[in-house]
Amino acid sequence: MAGEQDRKTFYITTPIYYPSGKLHIGHAYTTVAADCIARYKRQCGLDTRFLTGTDEHGIKIMRSADQAAMSPQQWVDLQYAEIKNLWRILDISYDDFLRTTEPRHARVVQAIFEQLFRQGDIYKGAYEGMYCAPCENFLLERQVVDGNCPDCGRPPEQVSEEAYFFRMSRYQDRWLQYVEDNPEFIQPASRRNEMTSFVRQGLEDLCVSRTTFDWGIKLPFDSKHVVYVWIDALTNYISALGYGEPGSLFERYWPADVHLMAKEIVRHHAVIWPIILMAAGIELPRRVFGHGWLVLEGDKMSKSKGNVIDPAVLVDKYGLDAVRYFLLRAMAFGADGNYSEDALVLRTNVDLANDLGNLVHRTLAMVERFADGRVPVPDSGAVGERPLAVQAAKSWQEYQARFERLDLPAALGAVMDLVGRANKYIDEQAPWSLVRDPATKPQAMTVLYDLLETARVAAVLLLPAMPQAPREILRQIGLDPDEVDCTLPRALAWGGLPPGLVVRKGSPIFPRIDSDALGGGPGAASSSGGDDGGSDVGTGDQLEEQQGRQSDQISYADFARVDLRVAKVVEADRVEGTDRLLKLQIELPEGRRQIVAGIAEHYRPDEMVGRDVVVVANLAPASIRGCESRGMLLAASHGTELVLVGLDRSLPPGAKVK
Ligand code: MSP
Repeated sequence: MAGEQDRKTFYITTPIYYPSGKLHIGHAYTTVAADCIARYKRQCGLDTRFLTGTDEHGIKIMRSADQAAMSPQQWVDLQYAEIKNLWRILDISYDDFLRTTEPRHARVVQAIFEQLFRQGDIYKGAYEGMYCAPCENFLLERQVVDGNCPDCGRPPEQVSEEAYFFRMSRYQDRWLQYVEDNPEFIQPASRRNEMTSFVRQGLEDLCVSRTTFDWGIKLPFDSKHVVYVWIDALTNYISALGYGEPGSLFERYWPADVHLMAKEIVRHHAVIWPIILMAAGIELPRRVFGHGWLVLEGDKMSKSKGNVIDPAVLVDKYGLDAVRYFLLRAMAFGADGNYSEDALVLRTNVDLANDLGNLVHRTLAMVERFADGRVPVPDSGAVGERPLAVQAAKSWQEYQARFERLDLPAALGAVMDLVGRANKYIDEQAPWSLVRDPATKPQAMTVLYDLLETARVAAVLLLPAMPQAPREILRQIGLDPDEVDCTLPRALAWGGLPPGLVVRKGSPIFPRIDSDALGGGPGAASSSGGDDGGSDVGTGDQLEEQQGRQSDQISYADFARVDLRVAKVVEADRVEGTDRLLKLQIELPEGRRQIVAGIAEHYRPDEMVGRDVVVVANLAPASIRGCESRGMLLAASHGTELVLVGLDRSLPPGAKVK
């Protein structure tokens, strides 16, 4: 947005959620996205404020409390504790959590209501019409679709009561002018167009009080009425800042930089809220961003439909970083996206295990073997000519631009481009060959240094998305994640990693999720080899399945991603407690590694030692019967027969098969 980059503060909000039942991954989606943006802005050195909260009044909450045979206050207290716990599980770094039942909030709602009433923007009348309680919306005739609420599809109730009205219609032209003058105010543009055509059809005055129940904030001048819950709720964005108090946070952080939400409540945020602010003489927020819906088999998730996924269960099963990363990459920002557990597993295996985890693991294995486990000294030559430094600078440019327009999946994609480039660079440079010749050894050290730098830069750029793994990457490459400066863009200067640091290679940062781990949940990949992981030897069917390839034909580029190499088996043992598994130690130029293969019924361990085999060298690590397996042997099978793929003549380990 214009001028945003010059500002020293950044204020972002999520919707305040209804504490009417357990939140699901749809709510987690918005909150994780806002958290990622807030973390990014903090990393850029901005004085950032991130607000979330709960919308605790209204008929919907009152009814859910009734159902639970509790008082509304008891009910919201209970739900509030659950919601806070969910944000703890997802490591949401909010600065403030506002509950609309807090006195600091009621005070501001009453003050604004009173002001609008005194200045003649609110008047008394009677409401006769439709109301959708689950959405807490008054519905106009023209909004109803086949007699149902356009948002939730349920039939609205007919209500008739004394009520106060807000003269929205007075502000219609000012609103249209404002949106025309500030095209970035409502985003994406498709939502702006929807809002503009909605307002052009004519704004009606809005009913802003209720008298048929009392679970809400009382009008300061007419205690028979409670404030309509949406007016109450929207005001949270300024009451949380202490609006009206001299020297409050309001003076420091308002106007908000981003109100983030899904599309069904853009109208409240982009039309009703700005008009309240205009009437109250308060500056408008800079941007209202309405993202799409996460849908399950084409249907919007909702508590009442019962088609919801609990984010805490997913975190338990796949880890926090995998769930957060998946959500952030799940759908083009702004558009709807389909949720499936398969997609989560695929995303984790492809981006995090195969690409990122493998880069770190391979690099550290080579640093241990060829550079005594220390960050090597790179060539003093021009950084600008080193391909990974060039790609890192390009990725940062793209990342930054995409973050600014809140295109988070694309921003993370820019980091993955860097990681992909680095994996390719290892194969192009073959550092294991360069180290053998004293003339090319310094070049090998530069290659290793640049790979470590890439891991560092990728980790720094992934910190907003994932609170855990990037810190572990920094630790493994020898840094102290609590001490190292991750400020953007300063931390990206190439050469930030001090040579001489001792690296700490650990277990793979993202072990690939194998079919056993799926536990037969929705989208579980089928396991072809019983309980002993026999699927790790075979024709590559499983790899293809895991990567979700649908067509029978693949391009050469697809094939080239599979790194097939000759390797020598140096040790072989049975895996205890299984009939089918052998544990092989194989030799590759970058070091020794273990592969677990389901060949014990066809080959004895002593037959394997000294044999040249063909392996998939870039298969992400997996744990099979508790043994780490880093790669896969190639074998041909026919009926019950299984024969290893071998070479006609001998070639040194590491030779490429293509
Ligand atoms: N209480 C109101 C908001 C008041 S803000 C002043 C409300 N609450 S809600 O609990 O229903 O939350 C709606 C929001 O949750 C959506 O706008 C979106 O941010 C998030 N999501 C809920 N389900 C979602 C999906 N299936 N997909 C994406 N986001 C979803 O409305």
